[in-house]
Amino acid sequence: MGAGIAQVAAQNGHSVILVDVNETVLDTAKSGHLKMIKRLAEKGSITNAECDQILGAIHYSTSMNEFKACGLVIEAIIEDLTVKHNVFAQMESIVDTSCILASNTSSLSIASIGSALKQPHRMIGIHFFNPAPLMPLVEIIPAVQTSEATVATVTTLITSWKKTGVVCKDTPGFIVNRVARPFYGEALRIYEEGIADFATIDWAMTAIGGFKMGPFTLMDYIGNDVNYAVTESVFQSFYYDPRFKPSFTQKRHKEAGYYGRKTGRGYYDYAEGAVNAPATEDEELGTYIFDRILVMLINEAADAVFMNVTDAKGVDLAMTKGVNYPKGLLTWADEIGLDDVLLKLEDLFAEYGEDRYRPNPLLRKLARTNQKFHA
Ligand SMILES: NC(=O)c1ccc[n+]([C@@H]2O[C@H](COP(=O)([O-])OP(=O)(O)OC[C@H]3O[C@@H](n4cnc5c(N)ncnc54)[C@H](O)[C@@H]3O)[C@@H](O)[C@H]2O)c1
Repeated sequence: MGAGIAQVAAQNGHSVILVDVNETVLDTAKSGHLKMIKRLAEKGSITNAECDQILGAIHYSTSMNEFKACGLVIEAIIEDLTVKHNVFAQMESIVDTSCILASNTSSLSIASIGSALKQPHRMIGIHFFNPAPLMPLVEIIPAVQTSEATVATVTTLITSWKKTGVVCKDTPGFIVNRVARPFYGEALRIYEEGIADFATIDWAMTAIGGFKMGPFTLMDYIGNDVNYAVTESVFQSFYYDPRFKPSFTQKRHKEAGYYGRKTGRGYYDYAEGAVNAPATEDEELGTYIFDRILVMLINEAADAVFMNVTDAKGVDLAMTKGVNYPKGLLTWADEIGLDDVLLKLEDLFAEYGEDRYRPNPLLRKLARTNQKFHA
């Protein structure tokens, strides 16, 4: 992630210092930058002079002392709070008092990382999506300690990098990793109930729902180890709210080493010549699957707005620009009709009696008063 973020900053005219403790990582980052920036020049997206300028703007180092003159440092090291605390304390002793210190963390709170600083008002979350040079979304996360000036400076900067910056609350999963949970969780639940197999659920979400990838193909792509870890972390961080309960199916796949594409086996078999069972392309079944996952996603999106994580526009931007959803979830809800969405959730809640299906109060209120998420 660090190499990708460094590339974004350099492509936007900044002088960048990329620091890693591991020299091999720096060498790989350097050759990756060379390849990607040269390709942009070959395609005519940038001139040869711009190519040289961008490549010349990135300096590679194993020492944080090089950060002395930096106006902004974005940390993207391993996801370990103790290691991050040490690094932030060390960084603060090196940089100027005006330097903003940011973290690209996906699962730790920004407040907890910022507690290592003597001047935590300059701490902020700047959360990129992978691959950073290609994905337009950046979640901007002020901690309780962050000053308004820091938020304003970072928001202006991210916009100037031609990224879509969405400010959100310092809550578990921020926007995308919270709102997207049912895409995986409800798909796994439908499988576990024996309603449909992986291929059929993927077919429903792509062919009927218009998603670029089905949940099981996507989990295999992300890696079941990584995706399961995010699910478990969000579940724990939300004090075990049943909405975020992880699935045994995913856990077992992870335990078996069925991580997905990277291990050659996940929900699907990626070995050469392997034949995976085809989807059952039943329109009625597919519509049931798609509707069920979609209303659960909408319910989660509504909750993010209800709990002031961000506004309706922010959720829709995050899900379309961060994970390529075909439509903003709340725009989708408005189009379907909130009464209809609510009815489907109430049916699930009545059928199962489980808290995970409880309709969000904001959705209830808007439906009752004949309003929409977007005015
Ligand atoms: N991978 C993703 O898709 C993704 C997306 C968004 C955010 N993030 C977040 O970005 C951060 C990095 O994730 P990643 O996937 O790039 O991890 P990674 O393990 O690929 O890279 C981490 C790098 O940090 C280096 N490092 C470790 N300790 C260091 C230290 N003390 N000083 C300097 N460098 C050190 C390691 O050598 C390694 O190269 C994490 O906080 C993660 O939550 C990851």
